[in-house]
Amino acid sequence: MEEKKKYSRTLVTTALPYANGPVHIGHLAGVYVPADIYVRYLRLKGEDVLMIGGSDEHGVPITIKAQKEGVTPQDIVDRYHKIIKESMAGLGISFDVYGRTTSDMHRRTASDFFKKLYDNGEFIEKTSEQFYDEEADQWLADRYITGTCPHCGNDGAYGDQCEACGTSLNATDLINPKSAITGNVPVLKETKHWYMPLDKWEPRLRQWILEDHKEWKTNVYGQCKSWLDGGLQPRAVTRDLNWGIPVPIEGAEGKVLYVWFDAPIGYISNTKELRPDDWEKYWKADDTRIIHFIGKDNIVFHCLIFPAMLMAEGTYQLPENVPANEFLNLEGDKISTSRNWAVWLNEYLEDFPGKQDVLRYVLTANAPEAKDNDFTWKDFQDRNNNELVAILGNFVNRAIVLTNKYFDGVIPEAHELTDYDRATIEEFKGVKDELGKALDTFHFRAALAEAMKLARIGNKYLADTEPWKLAKTDMARVETIMNVALQITANLAIAFEPFLPFSAEKLRKMINMECADWNKLGSIDILKAGERVEKPVLLFEKIDDETIKIQTDRLERIKQENILKNFTPKAVAPTVTFDDFQKLDIRVGKVLDCEKVKKADKLLKFTIDDGMKGRTIVSGIAKFYNPEDLIGKEVCFIANFPTRKLKGVESQGMILSAEDADGRLVVIGPQGEVRPGVQVG
Ligand code: 2FM
Ligand code: ZN
Repeated sequence: MEEKKKYSRTLVTTALPYANGPVHIGHLAGVYVPADIYVRYLRLKGEDVLMIGGSDEHGVPITIKAQKEGVTPQDIVDRYHKIIKESMAGLGISFDVYGRTTSDMHRRTASDFFKKLYDNGEFIEKTSEQFYDEEADQWLADRYITGTCPHCGNDGAYGDQCEACGTSLNATDLINPKSAITGNVPVLKETKHWYMPLDKWEPRLRQWILEDHKEWKTNVYGQCKSWLDGGLQPRAVTRDLNWGIPVPIEGAEGKVLYVWFDAPIGYISNTKELRPDDWEKYWKADDTRIIHFIGKDNIVFHCLIFPAMLMAEGTYQLPENVPANEFLNLEGDKISTSRNWAVWLNEYLEDFPGKQDVLRYVLTANAPEAKDNDFTWKDFQDRNNNELVAILGNFVNRAIVLTNKYFDGVIPEAHELTDYDRATIEEFKGVKDELGKALDTFHFRAALAEAMKLARIGNKYLADTEPWKLAKTDMARVETIMNVALQITANLAIAFEPFLPFSAEKLRKMINMECADWNKLGSIDILKAGERVEKPVLLFEKIDDETIKIQTDRLERIKQENILKNFTPKAVAPTVTFDDFQKLDIRVGKVLDCEKVKKADKLLKFTIDDGMKGRTIVSGIAKFYNPEDLIGKEVCFIANFPTRKLKGVESQGMILSAEDADGRLVVIGPQGEVRPGVQVG
């Protein structure tokens, strides 16, 4: 049963990405691909829906990037807005509008919004001490201050966070704070700002989320609950910065709106840009449904702060749902713009022309809906080759090829159905409800699996009925089989349209289906006998190892570069005397034998020629070497290290090793031939 409609239109918003870099697979899997699937689904059902997107062009991330490159913030946002907009279109993300927060419309909208709240007395004014760089004559945003982390001692911690230990910080927590602009010690100065009293809205937010929206995803609901239970504090909505929307009140010169105040208003201004005459009904009418698609790091802003702003303004609808996703990792590591650890959409589109749907498929099949998930190139290849090519592509291709072969492209009539035909049809009759239920509740992975089930049913149907074997003996039966197979093909063209729009379009063209109609999903009389199909076009093709290796090699290179970039040698230990040095008896030895220590996966047992009677040394480097490769090598060892027993083996010394860029231990030895037993000094 279809859910009863309580609304007349849906406004879907997608988090506005910062225009300080291209978008990557993490953004896509978390926000844009699911939102696009959802919107395409509603459009297929004939619903009134708008998909609103745009670039977030204010805030410190933009100014930092500009400063690094020695260009203006405007240069940065112009560059990346274009790249992001074009690449999203390239992937078929079907925004109705993709605006920007530096547009006049947005400036006016955000400024008026702030002014209305200000005039209604919705802000509190507070003075606090903040860091100021006297030489640069500039207030310092938290990201512009570096210093030593009070928790872990990392010297490169930022004013808002230490990336070494992950602690969030206040700039004033840093030991020896420095301005990232001049390197000077910043001074604390008093400054006035305007705050949203979130505590005032807490009871309403509690009721609205914790009581009225228990159906929200558990990850979203849980995060909101823990913020609310922790108690909400007033939040500053202005900043001392020269990039942003000027605070529209007297006495606020040099101050701008906090980027998280203006960015969500971007959804409103972009709707205005798209529908200047009737935008209001998408935001204010009570039969409108607003859905925010975001990543988990944006939950607090979309579920608490923006709704509090809307409550304070008073004329807007609150979102009906905020189906935030968790994060997607890349090959086991967190995606990071600064470490270039990402698959960038614009690069993907260049490297894999015509393969938009493969990425859409893999990102949906692996969507981090309930927990963080991992993207690997191997999985990308496997899913393409074993699922898209072998199941979906294979079935469609067979259906079209056989129709051309036996019927010259004319869709044959279905005669009497067998029990097996009926059982097959029965199997996919419910697909519309199942798919619809999954999509309505934002379970995109499950929805995709449901659509794929349809392709599996088709594949199995042809494999089981083997029409190619019947062609000589029972053409009437072949006609029925091919009619059923083509009806399944038509179902696929509808079911996959939200997920794989490029392939669905190709498929529609092959079967001359003008447009996909959701209501027909699950039925077996979509195509009419006597009409024609076209010649087959390949929907998917195998991706070979070579192609994948180019991508994994690229990531390997980046990993190496990052290791080198991030290496800072440890501080030198306190000075020792010559006597201290002489106490350590370091010698050269030759490895006579080397083997793994039983029941210890880390340990190697060396038999060393030490020029004397020989000795055994156990070393924890088994993970990094094949024991045989070390036999015959010369190594340095500490000869007067106390004897210890390791896993039952007595170790008489310590073999010297050092860590390489990959964190692997490398054994240290002389560069020329040295006789065993000679001391190092
Ligand atoms: O986290 C981000 O990338 C923000 N630029 C998202 C903003 S979403 C909305 F509020 F505009
Ligand atoms: Zn730290």
